[in-house]
Amino acid sequence: MSMYDDLAQILIDKQSLSEGVAKLAHQLDGDYADKNPLLVCVLKGSSVFYVNLVTAMQIPVEMEFVSVSSYGAGTTSGQVKIKKDLDVDIAGRHVIVVEDIIDTGNTLSLLKKLLEERNPASVKICALLDKKARRVADIEGDYVCFDIPDEFVVGYGLDYAEKYRNLPEIGVLKSEVYSK
Ligand code: PRP
Repeated sequence: MSMYDDLAQILIDKQSLSEGVAKLAHQLDGDYADKNPLLVCVLKGSSVFYVNLVTAMQIPVEMEFVSVSSYGAGTTSGQVKIKKDLDVDIAGRHVIVVEDIIDTGNTLSLLKKLLEERNPASVKICALLDKKARRVADIEGDYVCFDIPDEFVVGYGLDYAEKYRNLPEIGVLKSEVYSK
């Protein structure tokens, strides 16, 4: 059984992904030269994008990993629950939060607020995909590789029920797969 059997179409193929990530890496190399940035991988969705991004960069970066879940998001009481926190103090540091997708934006806006309370020099958002049609929170990506339509996408780290993360491209899931 192949994961490809469950796809309606490939939205972003391997070559486009690799070109998009290389372009972004080059941009970050320029913007963060001599800044010793700390790149934060938000588990698990951003893992594949993250590894490809940092290995496409030429300047030295520090790698950090967080795991969060948001609840009550979009309300004034919205909070991020940190399941795994950063290992280092980010005060005075240039932080780049690396996400696979900005959807409603709730997770990122809460996470960004929380990181800013720790007095970093800067916090920027870097996302592989931006699904603008779904935005609820007032947040934009500072660096975005691809704007995508409001489709159910999987692959390159993105899952449906923990499946398809290891698909090497971004595909649209057949509706019968998730409506079963
Ligand atoms: C996904 C994605 C973002 C968030 C985006 O994570 O990785 O963190 O949802 O959605 P939002 O903009 O509507 O907040 P998910 O909670 O599915 O966890 P995962 O990364 O482990 O798949």
